[in-house]
Amino acid sequence: SSVSPAIPLIGSIDQGTSSTRFLVFTQLGQIAASAQMEHTQIFPTDHIGWHEHNPIEIWYNTLTCIQNVAQALKNSKFSIDLKSQPLQAIGITNQRETTIAWNTITGVPYQNAIVWDDLRTTDVAHTIANGDPNRLRSETGLPIASYFAGTKVRWLIDNNPELRADLLNTERRSQVRFGTIDTWLIYQLTGSKAEGRATTAAAANIGGLFITDVTNASRWLFMDLHTLKWDKVLIDTVCGHDGSLSDDGVSIPLSALPDIKSSSEVYGRCATGFGEPAIEGTPIAGILGDQQAALFGQGAFEPGEAKNTYGTGLFLMMNTGTQPTPSTHGLLTTVGYCLGNEKPVYALEGSVSHSGSTIQWLRDQLQIIDDASESEIYARKVDSNDGMYFVPAFAGLFAPYWKSDARACIVGMTASHNKNHFCRAALESAAYQTKDVFDAINVDSHVPLKELRVDGGGTANSLLMQFTADMTNVPVIKPVVKETTALGAAYVAGLAVGVWKDTKEIKSLWAEEERFVPSMDSKLREKYLKGWKKAIQKSMGWVD
Ligand code: G3P
Repeated sequence: SSVSPAIPLIGSIDQGTSSTRFLVFTQLGQIAASAQMEHTQIFPTDHIGWHEHNPIEIWYNTLTCIQNVAQALKNSKFSIDLKSQPLQAIGITNQRETTIAWNTITGVPYQNAIVWDDLRTTDVAHTIANGDPNRLRSETGLPIASYFAGTKVRWLIDNNPELRADLLNTERRSQVRFGTIDTWLIYQLTGSKAEGRATTAAAANIGGLFITDVTNASRWLFMDLHTLKWDKVLIDTVCGHDGSLSDDGVSIPLSALPDIKSSSEVYGRCATGFGEPAIEGTPIAGILGDQQAALFGQGAFEPGEAKNTYGTGLFLMMNTGTQPTPSTHGLLTTVGYCLGNEKPVYALEGSVSHSGSTIQWLRDQLQIIDDASESEIYARKVDSNDGMYFVPAFAGLFAPYWKSDARACIVGMTASHNKNHFCRAALESAAYQTKDVFDAINVDSHVPLKELRVDGGGTANSLLMQFTADMTNVPVIKPVVKETTALGAAYVAGLAVGVWKDTKEIKSLWAEEERFVPSMDSKLREKYLKGWKKAIQKSMGWVD
């Protein structure tokens, strides 16, 4: 390895839906050390469609990953002790939209985090939409859907009695904090222990920075995409104006929302005594939502450049330059990144809720595989799906359909279908869903994609990669570093402290590892896509 202790190191916290990682990168964009921990997926049994995470567990997993990496660096042949050779900076990237509310005096969350794909706010979204789910599109770039953080804030203020009581209390309403995971973790990293609390409360810090970045803020339905500021009218539209909850003349106190910062600047430093001495005093200098981080990590800095990430969900995102590009084909207009005082760069995004999680479902719920990697082994035992399609609309359909009344379905089965076909159909669904958002991006952006850069766990599956190339009919390209999400966060942090000069330098570090070239006959492709479209129709309108 070319890693040397003399090379500056940059840390990256990647807090995703399924797991938390801490990675340390070299100036060449190579991984020097990494640690990963899964956290509990909470699906309350009395509420179908709900999905929660425990914020304290996530914070502790983050600390453990940092400790493990610090130890690994010490024990490595480079024997780097972060206390004497500190990281240059830390960047944070996170699952977006997942929402936490906590009290800033106790440091304690009012309840578990509501995860981005949780369906409890479907009715809230219907109410806000008032017959037109696109009524906030020109200001926010988003359709009104349960996916977005603002609907979760509305649910929390309407349904969490303790939170509501605090908001109604003139003394305590200024203590309420809402945040996505980036905000929660930075609050912890820059805060200090809340002494003398009960066990769970003791786990949380208080008094830290209360900030987010433009990419995360663009996913609430509260931020104006053009001004990049919280917008009172939007907040009132989403939360329903209730003068009794706030003194601000807005439905919720503005003090409860984090300050919106750029994606790359020194926001502050990890506090002394926050929990992990190895990074005390280290600057926190980058924040990006995880999909935006993957775009950045793939070096997609020019308009028309795109990436597709196969994680828990699946997210195709294209850089569209310094002006927001509206979508008329079910995509999101979102902020791609904003470096310090530079102009923001916008993106079009096709968000799909289930891809890797479909394979997890085969493993954990159906229990027909023991490990995700087995899905490819079984899928390869059959030459095709033999007419079977699996639409994983477990949380309704996201882009480009946005149908919360859809539910997952498996169609086209005969008695000859078996476990191999289940695996094949589940894998193929990720490629069909990619094709759906790929077509939408081509139309909305007016820049047809000539290739597709991919990253994330699913790229280890060569059957899926080849089938994606066959369905989209463009080459699918894997970079050498597949941890592009974590890398993107390291890059924005490193840019802020001068580890990298500019995006040009970062782009030069990107390298191709493998390329999947389309090889399917167009008639066969059309046949498969026709079957998929029929299956999609079956999944829609299932819930009354
Ligand atoms: O919008 C949700 C997204 O950020 C989650 O990403 O990688 O955890 O599936 P991932």
